[in-house]
Amino acid sequence: MTPRRSAAQTSSTDPGVTTRRGAMALAGFAAVCAMTAADSGDEPAFEAADVAPLPAVLLPPASHVVLTALDVPSGADAVRSLDALARLAREPGGGTQAAIALGASWFDKAGLAAARPVALTPMPAFVGDVLDPALVHGDLLLQVSAGTAELARQVSGSLLRAVPGVRVRWEKQGFRAGGQLSEGRALARNLFGFMEGHGNPSYRSSPGAAEVARVAAGSGEPRWAVGGSYQVVRIIRFATRLWDLEPVPVQERVMGRRRDGTWLDGTHSTGRPVFDADPEGRITPLDAHTRRANPGTSGVAAPRMLRRGYSYHDGPEDQGMLFVAFQGDLEQGFAGVQRRLAGQTLDRYTLTVGGGYYFLLDLSRGPANIAV
Ligand code: HEM
Repeated sequence: MTPRRSAAQTSSTDPGVTTRRGAMALAGFAAVCAMTAADSGDEPAFEAADVAPLPAVLLPPASHVVLTALDVPSGADAVRSLDALARLAREPGGGTQAAIALGASWFDKAGLAAARPVALTPMPAFVGDVLDPALVHGDLLLQVSAGTAELARQVSGSLLRAVPGVRVRWEKQGFRAGGQLSEGRALARNLFGFMEGHGNPSYRSSPGAAEVARVAAGSGEPRWAVGGSYQVVRIIRFATRLWDLEPVPVQERVMGRRRDGTWLDGTHSTGRPVFDADPEGRITPLDAHTRRANPGTSGVAAPRMLRRGYSYHDGPEDQGMLFVAFQGDLEQGFAGVQRRLAGQTLDRYTLTVGGGYYFLLDLSRGPANIAV
């Protein structure tokens, strides 16, 4: 694919890109946001008014994804690698969409540690995690989404081949089964047979997906990071054989919802049961996943995150979920929730083996100016 290669090679001399220690503009990012849900494959498009001005990666997702964590060389080459990848990702082709996020280590390698978003660290191990060093972290995260697995693989591979000097640290392919839109939320069925997405913020309400997923002004983050998003990835292996031995009503008590998303007390999937009326957990067990995630009791704020899970299937012993979440604040989003989940019954059936913390640039506002 020579045209892609030449784009990468000319990027560092392109007048649209300025690079200096402490500040840089990456022109390549500017156009990634120009893609819309309609480009993203087989999911129905949203009305523009419902989603503007969300970057493409936060729109209802395409049915297939390839997530690739990359390591880059140190120094100026760290910047050059990012810039080259961003330029190529601008038009990944074939109706696919591409997004790029930065790991904490990228800022160190680029000599821009002082410009790092304040909460961006390497992902810590949480209670119960058994992290495989070959499946965690990465300087950059490339996410390519498409309507078919083959297309996502093909485009991701061609982008990576065209960027010299990057090394694949880990890569996972995911899919969303039965993807659909319902009441402003993107739903899909996971490999445990449950519909996911009902508890996400809607694209149509306030605070909605746009607010919770992105860094707000005045949040104490560097100015350049406002509008960006903390992207959390967790590679979660499912013990599907063990799960499948459980009767459905037992599975539903583990999740705290029925398989279609209806709550155990009959509340509609997008409503909220009054957990205070069930203090001993007779209807919804206290250690059910959804009750732990969002107990709805005073003093515990509702999670502020946009979840974007994909299933993965790399063989009978290695299948599960690529949990992906976007948030403007890690504590109010993933990290706070994950700590509350420790000890939930669902942990008997799952094992987190990898993932990372990354920072997705605000692709909708033009070139990113990463500055100290
Ligand atoms: C271990 C694998 C996981 C499975 C199988 C799973 C499954 C589910 C299901 C079926 C729901 C209900 C439908 C929905 O709202 O999407 C749900 C809700 C939720 N999950 Fe998970 N999840 C997993 C991991 C996680 C993780 C790692 C987090 C964050 C740390 C998380 C946070 C949430 C939140 C915040 C909700 C919404 C609760 C509400 O209704 O307000 N989940 N999950």
